[in-house]
Amino acid sequence: MYDALEWVTEVVFFRRWRRELWERVPAGRVLEVGVGTGKNLAYHRDEHQVVGIDLSPGMLSRARRRAEQSGATVELHEADVQALPFDDESFDAVVASFVFCSVPDPVRGLREAQRVLKPGGKLVLLEHVISPNPVLAAFMRWLDFLPVNIWGAHIDRDTAENVHTAGFRDVEVQHRVSGVVILVEASRSPGSARETHRID
Ligand SMILES: C[S@@+](CC[C@H](N)C(=O)[O-])C[C@H]1O[C@@H](n2cnc3c(N)ncnc32)[C@H](O)[C@@H]1O
Repeated sequence: MYDALEWVTEVVFFRRWRRELWERVPAGRVLEVGVGTGKNLAYHRDEHQVVGIDLSPGMLSRARRRAEQSGATVELHEADVQALPFDDESFDAVVASFVFCSVPDPVRGLREAQRVLKPGGKLVLLEHVISPNPVLAAFMRWLDFLPVNIWGAHIDRDTAENVHTAGFRDVEVQHRVSGVVILVEASRSPGSARETHRID
């Protein structure tokens, strides 16, 4: 149903943005958070060893099927980004597309991303966010209850700000569609992520 609902936007916008997202992902061991039905599989490159996680077993089974059909090599696990089952400093990059709108505590999830990143590791995100236009932003805040109750995603998240709050450095944000979609690149802060951002 998710794939069917997003078919038009996928063709018109998302495919191009996914390509742009993955062009920014450095080589090495990559954690993809919220893999969903596996729409990003087609954009992984040979130099990426991708581990994908998602909260939803249903989405993961679609992703598994898609990986089998396309021959993509990916390791998939059921997990919550807010409590990642991976060692500290074990990934070169963490990637997500359209995920942090639905994570209950996005800053906690981003701090977990920081914890599992190696020093110098990259965070690369494609997310829909609250508009930079104050009038539209007020409308999105007012309307937020609707998407949250229908499909569990917030439309009033300020994900770039959350990336800063989680302690990432060198945060670069590129706007798409007047700023309601953003591409974010950021670096893990130096030092131990556990020391700088205590994860309870
Ligand atoms: C809108 S879908 C995006 C899926 C995929 N990234 C894409 O671009 O098509 C959001 C996905 O994030 C997953 N998700 C939501 N909260 C999560 C969490 N706390 N930890 C892991 N995955 C989560 C959902 O199950 C869903 O598959």
